[in-house]
Amino acid sequence: MAVVSSSVEGVRQKNFRFRCIACSSLSDAAGQDFRCGKCGDLLEITYPTWKETRPDAATLTSAWKSRKLSSCPADLSGVWRFRDLLPEVEDTEVITLREGNTPLYELPRCARITGVPQLFAKHQGMNPTASFKDAGMTVAATFARRAGFRWVACASTGNTSASMAAYAARGEMRSLVLVPEGKISWSKLSQALDYGAVTCQLRTDFDGCLRLQQDLVRQAPVYQLNSINPFRLEGQKTLALELLEQFDWAPPDHIIVPGGNLGNSSAIGKALLEMHELGLISRLPKLSVIQAEGANALVRSVREAGGKRLISVAPETRATAIRIGNPASWKKAVHVLEATRGACEQVSEVEIARAKAEIGAEGIGCEPASAVTLAGLKKLVKHGFVKPDESVVLVLTGNLLKDPDFTIGFHRGEMFGEEENTALVALRHAPIVLDASLDAVIQTLERFN
Ligand code: F0G
Repeated sequence: MAVVSSSVEGVRQKNFRFRCIACSSLSDAAGQDFRCGKCGDLLEITYPTWKETRPDAATLTSAWKSRKLSSCPADLSGVWRFRDLLPEVEDTEVITLREGNTPLYELPRCARITGVPQLFAKHQGMNPTASFKDAGMTVAATFARRAGFRWVACASTGNTSASMAAYAARGEMRSLVLVPEGKISWSKLSQALDYGAVTCQLRTDFDGCLRLQQDLVRQAPVYQLNSINPFRLEGQKTLALELLEQFDWAPPDHIIVPGGNLGNSSAIGKALLEMHELGLISRLPKLSVIQAEGANALVRSVREAGGKRLISVAPETRATAIRIGNPASWKKAVHVLEATRGACEQVSEVEIARAKAEIGAEGIGCEPASAVTLAGLKKLVKHGFVKPDESVVLVLTGNLLKDPDFTIGFHRGEMFGEEENTALVALRHAPIVLDASLDAVIQTLERFN
């Protein structure tokens, strides 16, 4: 089958080009595998027009602010509101669920626990399908439809598939989901089903699903919506734009993200570098990436190979969203770690569960993969990489409701052995089964008083 370009006839490539991250080759079109035609490495989107007509920082920030008062769908989107720094499309072509516009919360309890008073959470779990994926998906799905595709596909640990299925449905495209059987949460699977995706549970892990999907897009006219797709990362950049706007363009010292396939860290890093280049911020926050100990390919690659080659691992973690052993965007992530002078850290299963409960105790809540950020921060403070007087933003990538099995298992004490459970007892709140009597309820109230 012929390779279908993402810039098929009739679609004008207005303000952007594709650039290979390894050999820097520039091209106007990308094949369906979104790999460099010369060396096979990943592509990123670049904006050559910025050199001639450099967007002016003050004009941009005031345009973004004034769009908040508009009721046009593109302006109501917390992604397309920043469209000046995105690949250009007509406003009417945009597939949007009003993504972005996510809250920035203070975390006073976690601040006390970590000894970092200026601690914030950027909660991407407050997106329409309850994860950060929506910010990238609105852009990539828009370009899929614009290029005339009927089918979109992704390999996923759950959130990408939920988001893709929703945006495909909104854009009247069909979607094909490849997920590892038994290794994604029911909540995420149920979203894909409800939004009408053809959902295949493959007897492999995420990395196996991704390999298969990449083979598939080379043979069938299916548009891939994994984070290999650079349009996804452009959309995910807006997380950082919106965050900096919430800080009134005074950068925090640290931004901490979970690392799985490493698309999100790459996107946020790209945004920070572009904002710096355009004069929107005067200095770069340090971007740090945290992985689960059992899925620590980036940590090992940085520590054992100086970030020069990928050390793949056989992934195992209860934080299923980041159960990835062969992250596709590892080179992009190494680049942003180096460029922003960020750190890379790993955390244990118990540390993840504890951090998740501590974030929950703030009345916010997140899914396990998001909680690695708080667990990682504790280590970064201990190692002196984060100083108590610095400001820190944790990027919470998914909503608490994404993985109820994890939360219930934790609170019921079903997750760990006796020793760990005892250490975690103050954070565990198991449900209590009672006879339906007033006495029983009052006694319970007294017991906890
Ligand atoms: N947090 C959550 C909740 C995720 O779902 C993911 C990735 C990550 C963090 C890691 O982000 O891959 O950009 O480094 N989920 C993907 C998926 C892989 O298929 O839903 P990353």
